[in-house]
Amino acid sequence: MTRSLPPRAEVPSAPLCAGPCRAVVTGGAGFIGSHLVERLLADGFRVHVVDDLSTGKLENLQSVHGASGLTVTVGSVASPKLAGSVLEDADVVFHLAGVVGVRRLAREPLDVTQANLRSTEVILEAAAARGVSVLLTSSSEVYGDGPVPFVETAPVMPGSTEGLRGGYACAKAMGEWLATAHAEQSGLQVAVARLFNTVGPRQAGEDGMVLPRFVRQALRGEPVTVYGQGRQTRCFAHVREVARALVDLSRSASLPGRVINVGSALETSVADLARVVLECSESDSVVQRVPFHEVFPSGFVDPPRRVPCLRRLQSANGWVPSAPLRSIVADVIAYERAGAMVDRGEASSSASPAP
Ligand SMILES: NC(=O)c1ccc[n+]([C@@H]2O[C@H](COP(=O)([O-])OP(=O)(O)OC[C@H]3O[C@@H](n4cnc5c(N)ncnc54)[C@H](O)[C@@H]3O)[C@@H](O)[C@H]2O)c1
Repeated sequence: MTRSLPPRAEVPSAPLCAGPCRAVVTGGAGFIGSHLVERLLADGFRVHVVDDLSTGKLENLQSVHGASGLTVTVGSVASPKLAGSVLEDADVVFHLAGVVGVRRLAREPLDVTQANLRSTEVILEAAAARGVSVLLTSSSEVYGDGPVPFVETAPVMPGSTEGLRGGYACAKAMGEWLATAHAEQSGLQVAVARLFNTVGPRQAGEDGMVLPRFVRQALRGEPVTVYGQGRQTRCFAHVREVARALVDLSRSASLPGRVINVGSALETSVADLARVVLECSESDSVVQRVPFHEVFPSGFVDPPRRVPCLRRLQSANGWVPSAPLRSIVADVIAYERAGAMVDRGEASSSASPAP
């Protein structure tokens, strides 16, 4: 006797939130989280930020400080007690809390892998128990070395378990599988946004994020260090467009699938990025190529290309991020210049580095 396979967990059949409602943003004091919080408040949501400030900063929320409708809790969402209490009176949770950065991953692979897995597990459980919808942020890292453009239905390819990079990718992929399992078993309303390279003001450069690192080097007149030949390509999306895309996804009446790529499809090589940074900053810095093995442990692979297919995003939201690279780079330069002035005491200390 043949048995048919169980049906795949349905994609959310109703919007995760029908209109402005009570949203929790985990990781809301981080780079993307803080822009998302600004967007949600501007759209009339009440927002509860939960952040352990491990990499995030309360200064990132300076523009919305004191806003009615904003609550901030400092603590870890890996704590089931805290996660449960903040989700008690929420309608939707945007889960962004995570540990990111390739340099950090190379340095502390265990911490990065465990932290990403644990917080997602706890948030999904707390949301399922309380009937709170979830927009989970995942990463293009799950595609690994797969063929481009990356399509959501393709198998994930995090790589060998003897390599380091796959740990982060696997934790993100496991979060996605947990989301699907919750949807199937408990009817959790959940969608997954697979984020591609997101850049803009407030991104920390310390852990290998390429654009803020290039901009800081250029503004200081130091060599702009390109790892390898710089032929590897990435698609860079402006963080404000990504934040808007996440809000629109949460309100979309018809998601074409549970998992949706979020980012820009405008492809740039890292060498070209360095050139644009030098031009836009009018810096005299030179480009210096650094062999990959001098920066990363052996076995650490940098995928040559990473390009999203954005058909699902277009179908769900009716638009896709498309800010030109030069305008994004100009925004980051303005932000970093303002921050450098504050550091040197050339601006009033209350001035926030404006995007
Ligand atoms: N920036 C990108 O290009 C990119 C690409 C793909 C995926 N993502 C995903 O987007 C999310 C946000 O990334 P980001 O670039 O804004 O990084 P970020 O480091 O600026 O933000 C992460 C935030 O989470 C907080 N956090 C970490 N662990 C926590 C915990 N246990 N409890 C509460 N808060 C915690 C940090 O303090 C920080 O504020 C992450 O989940 C990341 O995996 C980002």
